[in-house]
Amino acid sequence: MPHKITLIPGDGIGGEVTQAVVRILDATGVKFEWETIQAGAEAYEKYKEYIPKALTESIERTHVALKGPITTPIGGGFASINVQLRKQFELYANFRPVSNLPHIPTRYPDIDLVVVRENTESLYSGLEHEVVPGVVESLKIITEKASTRIARFAFEYSRKNKRKKVHSIHKANIMKLSDGLFLRCSRNVAKEYPEITYGEHIVDNTCMQLVMNPYQYDVMVMENLYGDIISDLCAGLVGGLGLVPSANLGEHCAIFEAVHGSAPDIAGKNLANPTALLRSALLMLRHIGEPDAALKVRNALENVYRDRDKLTKDVGGKAGTSEFADSVIAAMQS
Ligand code: NAI
Repeated sequence: MPHKITLIPGDGIGGEVTQAVVRILDATGVKFEWETIQAGAEAYEKYKEYIPKALTESIERTHVALKGPITTPIGGGFASINVQLRKQFELYANFRPVSNLPHIPTRYPDIDLVVVRENTESLYSGLEHEVVPGVVESLKIITEKASTRIARFAFEYSRKNKRKKVHSIHKANIMKLSDGLFLRCSRNVAKEYPEITYGEHIVDNTCMQLVMNPYQYDVMVMENLYGDIISDLCAGLVGGLGLVPSANLGEHCAIFEAVHGSAPDIAGKNLANPTALLRSALLMLRHIGEPDAALKVRNALENVYRDRDKLTKDVGGKAGTSEFADSVIAAMQS
């Protein structure tokens, strides 16, 4: 039976990177049935909805989606489709593993970190209003339920994967109630996992610690906004946004997507690096029970990274998006 997967191409570089990744996945020998449905501004043109009903129904049917980046208008326009999809399907855990690839020059080798980001609340609640002209209020929502759930996700992942340390990242010195609650929930959950060392760091200090000594961290758990910022910082530690994967996980559905956005500056130029989405697809292959295919693609990807000329421009190579995909497919078949 083929795996039914919802494919959301996205916009900007989305079409180019999803096409490259689908070609690679189809070349693994695993059978997929892709249900391709757009979301965002392009979907609105066709369906008059930013998240078409057909997309919702498809994800409810397949339970798994692979998604390209979707542009969010700045300072107005429609609300982030990414955030809406995460809320709609209760994809409460944003899982972002960060590790080096061969031959990508970075300050630190052998990085092996996991950022676990709460995906449904905090300042992403979208609750903003103008109190009086010139004064705007933005509500940060933190609940015991969501904070406990994300802490438990981080500790359970750590236990299953023999991780040694979990740090809860916060700003409870200033936001005493909201981040204080987040921290209390982390502490309570930590007590159930005595074999895992528990630590707490304030978010601004964490940024400095990460660039000076990233090895002190293992798994980090944090609310939505800190997770957004820290995970981009971590991407920078291993070579940039074109390289790191992410998974949005809930009880019933999962959406796999790259950390990066739609990169309008390089869209349509065959310049985008599909590695981040490909590594997200590796997480997806494991999630759907295809670990052998995941290993095959990972080995091929690492082989390609041994030859700089085969890489895309953002990581010092000369290849375009589609040539890079050809190289990964060739490496898989050799
Ligand atoms: P961005 O991640 O799109 O781009 C930042 C920089 O990284 C740019 O210079 C871009 O060329 C480069 N870059 C990103 N991905 C790359 C790749 N695969 N290969 C090579 N270079 C790459 O961030 P930006 O410009 O802040 O956001 C653009 C749009 O994307 C915004 O509308 C934003 O809301 C949206 N976005 C969507 C996300 C999603 O769909 N999950 C996540 C982040 C942003």
